Amino acid sequence: MNLRKAMLIGAVLLTVLAAAAYSLQGSFAGFGFGGPKVLVAYFSRAGENYAVGRTEKGNTAALAEIIADETGGDLFEIKTKEAYPEKLKEVLEVARREQKENARPELAEKVNLADYDIIFLGYPNWCSDMPMAVYTFLETNDFEGKTIIPFSTSLTDALTGNEKNIPLHAKGAKVLDGLGLEGKFVHDTPRLVKPLVKEWLDNLNWKEAAKSE
Ligand SMILES: Cc1cc2nc3c(=O)[nH]c(=O)nc-3n(C[C@H](O)[C@H](O)[C@H](O)COP(=O)(O)O)c2cc1C
Repeated sequence: MNLRKAMLIGAVLLTVLAAAAYSLQGSFAGFGFGGPKVLVAYFSRAGENYAVGRTEKGNTAALAEIIADETGGDLFEIKTKEAYPEKLKEVLEVARREQKENARPELAEKVNLADYDIIFLGYPNWCSDMPMAVYTFLETNDFEGKTIIPFSTSLTDALTGNEKNIPLHAKGAKVLDGLGLEGKFVHDTPRLVKPLVKEWLDNLNWKEAAKSE
């Protein structure tokens, strides 16, 4: 093959590659090459709990795993340095005290949010709010340009109602509509949760909705 022919083939190949890359990027405009990077960050507590007795895995953790499975996201557990009590009566006391004091419990591990575009944020309803450790997570990370999608478990199938305040703590974040499910339902019948999660994600059109304007 002469040099001119080789250069011509090289140029054609480069053009085809560039066009493919452009069309891929175009389909996820607003995110990096290859689409949004997704994190499923959640707080959850195993141990004695309402309705489900003593559990090895918290209800929110179970929901987080289903969401990570559906979205291809990485899982990250928001854990405090000091573990919460295993007994329900004791954890209630700690949760009430922390809420009263507007505490920010120290977290055990950090995650590099720079690696992610969309953060699914999961937590149980604790005393009609998010556990205070979730506020620590929101306030000690940089959410500029990120999208948060909340999900929660509780004694009912509602979110805490305080989700509107998330952007006050996660500065720069855009927050989409969340999913609230009854903890016992998630614990007892995870196979029924999967289609609900899928339906929620489809209705939310989450990847499109998360794109920056
Ligand atoms: C300290 C504490 C406070 C709670 N407060 C509420 C509440 O105010 N409203 C509610 O619906 N459920 C409340 N619950 C129930 C939890 O939200 C529910 O059991 C949830 O599914 C637990 O999730 P987890 O297993 O991931 O920790 C509370 C549970 C605990 C341990």
